[in-house]
Amino acid sequence: MASGTPTPSSEFEMNICFVGAGYVGGPTAAVMAKFCPTIKFTVVDLDRRRIDGWNSDILPIYEPGLQELVEAMRGKNLFFSTDVGKGIDAADIVMVAVNTPNKPFGAGYDLAAYESVSRSIAQHSNSSKIIVEKSTVPVRTAERMRQIFDSNKKRPDIQLEILSNPEFLAEGTAVKNLENPDRVLVGGLETKEGQEAVRVLVEVYRKWVPANRIITTNLWSSELGKLAANAMLAQRVSSMNSMSALCEVSGANVEELKRILGSDPRIGSQFLNASVGFGGSCLEKDLCGLVYLCESYHLDEVADYWRSVLKINDYQKARFSRNVVSKMFDNVKGKNIAIYGFAFKKDTGDIRLSPAIDICRQLLKEGARLFIYDPKASHVEMIAEFPAAQGFPQERISLERNAYTCATETHAICILTDWTEFKNLDYERIYRSMQKPAFIFDGRNLLDAPQLKAIGFHVVSIGKQ
Ligand code: UGA
Repeated sequence: MASGTPTPSSEFEMNICFVGAGYVGGPTAAVMAKFCPTIKFTVVDLDRRRIDGWNSDILPIYEPGLQELVEAMRGKNLFFSTDVGKGIDAADIVMVAVNTPNKPFGAGYDLAAYESVSRSIAQHSNSSKIIVEKSTVPVRTAERMRQIFDSNKKRPDIQLEILSNPEFLAEGTAVKNLENPDRVLVGGLETKEGQEAVRVLVEVYRKWVPANRIITTNLWSSELGKLAANAMLAQRVSSMNSMSALCEVSGANVEELKRILGSDPRIGSQFLNASVGFGGSCLEKDLCGLVYLCESYHLDEVADYWRSVLKINDYQKARFSRNVVSKMFDNVKGKNIAIYGFAFKKDTGDIRLSPAIDICRQLLKEGARLFIYDPKASHVEMIAEFPAAQGFPQERISLERNAYTCATETHAICILTDWTEFKNLDYERIYRSMQKPAFIFDGRNLLDAPQLKAIGFHVVSIGKQ
């Protein structure tokens, strides 16, 4: 425990408070609670609806295995509360896991929530604590946090030692990633107090993570490490997506390229799936953050390099919708198009920055009528992506509750999310219910194209002629 940290009064050995009950805070606290029965975890958030959700039978987010886990731990050593002040004050370690989105107009991260949590921590801390950056933040955020602490904390003897411990979980596999992480990264200041705080947090993780998977480093490398990891992942998808365009005109096949590249251990086989483009709240956001960071240090060439990864992503989304229109005889006006999948990837209901948003908007602009089905995405959130006030034609958007009715009477199906459910549908039945010629645009190379062709579909895949 950090020097000066009081011993918690309850039966627990330690109190850890997560601030922010979102995609990181909720699942992380639940998994930690499972492996650390002697530690009390409290997840706090000002949003009452969210907290009520975590305390109910229907969690506010969908992740395989999460509902069962939360139900097993809740009330034992896992608690959800809106009392942010109390949660912070009682904690030995405060994990800051609030959202850090991009600003709407591109200039870096919106750190308003982060700053406000930092102020709350200073205001509500009556004892010394370790403060952990869990959210992805620009490099040197800890320095700003320190300034806020130093000028707002209640007493000079209260020590708030900041660590960086970015989360590497991917949505859809959160529980698996947290239970068996590839690595845990802990960055601290290279001072005696900083190193002691690192030791305390590492000890918590050691309850279930092998020592060789825990990387300790300095604060700034840890902050930048998370950003850089997401940028490299995004770069792989954009590299494959750029190759997919070349494959389509040259007769090469992007799946074959994946096989060839993936068998080189220096390249590795993961994250080489060509697609409609990457989405989600992380890769694009962190690329934008990285570009902004480079620009702010006047590293224009470096900024341009990473900006090009984003450009290929936009190109891939635009290329997909252009392809739909051109293959359907250059005209989708008045035609019915089924959209299979709206979430940014399978096994999540999250639609933030999903490529489906841009693709659907483009098809609507071209005059298509859309029938959208996603197994987990919320209808309220999906329709909010097409505001009437911005001129999106509400009468041409239908949200569907099953894949079969969704495709009935349509001219085409676009596969935009890699949900396993879409692989196992009865495509003969679907074909019979559609208008002819019936097209399938497989934006995830998910389906068995020869089989669909045998049924009668016109199949258009990514990166294949
Ligand atoms: C990403 C990182 O993978 C996590 O390690 C990181 O912790 C997280 O961001 C974060 O910063 O919080 P996530 O955005 O949840 O995780 O999902 P990914 O699995 O990275 O997928 C991102 C997008 O890339 C999805 O739209 C996915 O469909 C797409 N993708 C992924 C491809 O198009 N091709 C691939 O080969 C892989």
